[in-house]
Amino acid sequence: MSAPVLKPLIIGSGGREHALAWKLRKSSSVERVLCVPGSDGIALDAEVVPASLSDIEGIAKLAASLKADYTVVGPELPLVAGLADAFKAHGLRVVGPSQAGARLEGSKIFAKQFLQKYGIPTGPLYGIYNSVGEAYSALCAVDWPVVIKADGPCAGKGVLVTNSPDEATAFIERLMDKREFGEAGTRVLIEEALVGKELSFIVLTDGEHVLPLATSRDHKRALDHDQGPNTGGMGAISFEGMISADLEAEILEKVVRPTLDGMAREGSPYVGFLYCGLMLTSDGPKVLEFNCRMGDPECQAIVARMDFDLAETLEATTEGELDRIVPRWRPGASVCLVLASGGYPGPYEAGNVIQGLEVAGGQEDLVVFHAGTRAAEGGGFVTSGGRVLGVTAAGRDLGAAAARAYAAAAQIRFDGVHYRRDIGMI
Ligand code: AMP
Ligand code: GLY
Repeated sequence: MSAPVLKPLIIGSGGREHALAWKLRKSSSVERVLCVPGSDGIALDAEVVPASLSDIEGIAKLAASLKADYTVVGPELPLVAGLADAFKAHGLRVVGPSQAGARLEGSKIFAKQFLQKYGIPTGPLYGIYNSVGEAYSALCAVDWPVVIKADGPCAGKGVLVTNSPDEATAFIERLMDKREFGEAGTRVLIEEALVGKELSFIVLTDGEHVLPLATSRDHKRALDHDQGPNTGGMGAISFEGMISADLEAEILEKVVRPTLDGMAREGSPYVGFLYCGLMLTSDGPKVLEFNCRMGDPECQAIVARMDFDLAETLEATTEGELDRIVPRWRPGASVCLVLASGGYPGPYEAGNVIQGLEVAGGQEDLVVFHAGTRAAEGGGFVTSGGRVLGVTAAGRDLGAAAARAYAAAAQIRFDGVHYRRDIGMI
């Protein structure tokens, strides 16, 4: 066993970052885990240092002063804004792509054109539109349903899959005319809707070597049976045998490898987590989206199955030596169940007292990750976000993991709490 010497720094403040902190803290090679800006919940597992994530140069200077061995970046916005480039300019090691690499998530039009240029399987595109008029006209000649996507980041609200021309025109108006998401709606793309099961296929790469993480699936809709509005993710599952070895090889060969080779050819070699959002269609896997980071809540389900040293793995990534890591995954399954605030994904209440958090204390295979909580004055926690907690359990199979997560969720109470009842019930 190696001596505890590593001091990793995590950037971010949500459930994904709590899961990373929890896993890193368990590593025998880790001395301390740091997190900027973190949260009161993350402070259970890391030393948190408040700062504004919009000040990229300030974060780089702060990271330099903290003398971390390396930094792993949770959310996309700092990467899209060039955080990895700023860190490199300060001589700091970072797990996360450059600003140029982060365009795979930061611009859906860049990603779509990239997919087409390199022959990576994706859904057919109707077109890219620069004005409301062009986009409206395009809708006259499509087969329904269609998918409309804002080019830029919209906090998960920039995509509409719809059968309704009225809904489509209203969405285009909100994006391009009312500019509800600002610059992100300057251009939109319209593409064919694909049918199949979605899969989150996330790899870690040092630019050359690729380490596929356990596959997982998010549940994006607010209500059971995939009804209701889209959310940031209401739960995630991961289980052994989720995809066959052949399908994994096909995804690596047809999606991951050409993406990394293509980015290198574009002059933007890619380092960090690459999240391929796939639709498993009758015609094979097709890319719906790329993210330049770990998924949230997929990360929570993935770390629950991780049976290798994440701290050493991230260090190897920054050294271009990911090939020295042998990943081992716990057999069985994991489930992350998101407990959300009343009203989410719309306007939600905050400041409600959370009871029952001790449910996970000392239990094997059960952990409650904090996403939107803050410390209450007299002790304990209150709600402070839309997605509040990620109750995450592992088990011998999906049924066992889900039963453990739901039993724990039933013990946790706060006014307005809601969660899906069908996570892990496939
Ligand atoms: P994106 O932000 O591009 O991932 O889109 C968010 C969600 O919209 C995806 O996770 C899918 O559920 C859905 N979506 C995106 N593109 C398509 C497509 N071409 N066909 C069907 N659903 C899609
Ligand atoms: N869970 C979807 C995402 O992280 O984008």
